[in-house]
Amino acid sequence: MKKIAVIPGDGIGRETVTEALKVMDALSLPLQFDEFPFGAEYYLKTGKTLEDDDLEELKDFDAILLGAVGDPRVKPGILERGILLKLRFHFDMYVNLRPAKLLDARFTPLKNKRDIDIVFVRENTEGLYAGSGGFLHKNTEYEVAIQEMINTRRGVERIVRFAMEYARKKGRKKVTLCDKSNVLTYAHDLWQRVFWELGKRYEDIKKDHEYVDALAMKLVRSPERFDVIVTPNMFGDILTDLAAELTGGLGLAASGNINPEGLSMFEPVHGSAPDIAGKGMANPMATVLAVSMLLDFLGFEREAKVIEHAVSTALREGFLTPDMGGDKRTEEVGDYLARLVGGGEDVWF
Ligand code: NAD
Ligand code: IPM
Ligand code: MN
Repeated sequence: MKKIAVIPGDGIGRETVTEALKVMDALSLPLQFDEFPFGAEYYLKTGKTLEDDDLEELKDFDAILLGAVGDPRVKPGILERGILLKLRFHFDMYVNLRPAKLLDARFTPLKNKRDIDIVFVRENTEGLYAGSGGFLHKNTEYEVAIQEMINTRRGVERIVRFAMEYARKKGRKKVTLCDKSNVLTYAHDLWQRVFWELGKRYEDIKKDHEYVDALAMKLVRSPERFDVIVTPNMFGDILTDLAAELTGGLGLAASGNINPEGLSMFEPVHGSAPDIAGKGMANPMATVLAVSMLLDFLGFEREAKVIEHAVSTALREGFLTPDMGGDKRTEEVGDYLARLVGGGEDVWF
């Protein structure tokens, strides 16, 4: 029996997690779920985000499923740092694995593009996210605000190595380093040196490099040229929203926060979407695909594929929420996917 901690969180996270659990239930796997209340409501009631004893309790789980955090009633950063980043950092989930694969060519806004299958390997514990910095003379005209970008050799080496190993294991051909080493001549010089030095051990993998600005342009112009992209934390955050939009939208983009030797957490790329929360309009597919990644990670490869296949079927049949041009409600899409994975014979292959 595998134990999964479920943190629905805020806004549409709560709605999409409900549907993702339905889909998981329909597979009748030996899984046990424990739900945790962390998020805005819990914070507003108790003043707590995530305490040390919560982390202690979570460490015994086999994986975490997270919806989203963030709420207009709470100052930005409190829940994001206090829950999401705390989990990523505490459990040293140093890889943020974000596939951007076009499952159905009708859903890209790009003309005449069908072949988009990119995996972003985003560094997940350092960079501009590390939380190093502070204010001087706050709220005066001399105010200085500093937020430092942290890059450690160990941190860069392990993410580059992961990208290379991942490419090799998955039979992918190329790893592209995306940085800004023409300007960040210390921080990203380290990335350059590590990438090309470590890259020598991976002769079977093609290696290349793009500056982040050009890469953003080329993602739109010719996404088919990319395979695996390894990049620092902040660039990975921005580029994966862009790549999501190229492959059907945030409603379809899933991710894994991976610690290859420890606890990992799976979540949609999107946030709590306060603009549509509570209206039954959220697309649950991103969270459902996060569950597919979670199951794959736990060794249920076949079931992971079944889920991906069910989502492809829903896309093909046009069973969609409004973000993708449909008129179905969150719950209807969840029910539909659960029915497909729970016995629809056209899904089993
Ligand atoms: P967002 O991803 O929540 O929403 C961006 C836009 O995409 C919105 O218009 C939203 O309606 C739409 N959208 C997102 N997911 C959708 C879905 N599943 N179905 C249909 N439409 C969808 O980003 P935001 O508005 O910038 O952030 C809202 C809050 O979420 C903030 O508090 C932010 O900090 C937080 N956030 C959390 C996470 C996370 O928990 N992993 C990720 C991103 C943002
Ligand atoms: C994401 C989110 C988070 C990030 C925020 C909410 C901390 O945008 O998962 O992409 O920037 O990593
Ligand atoms: Mn983001």
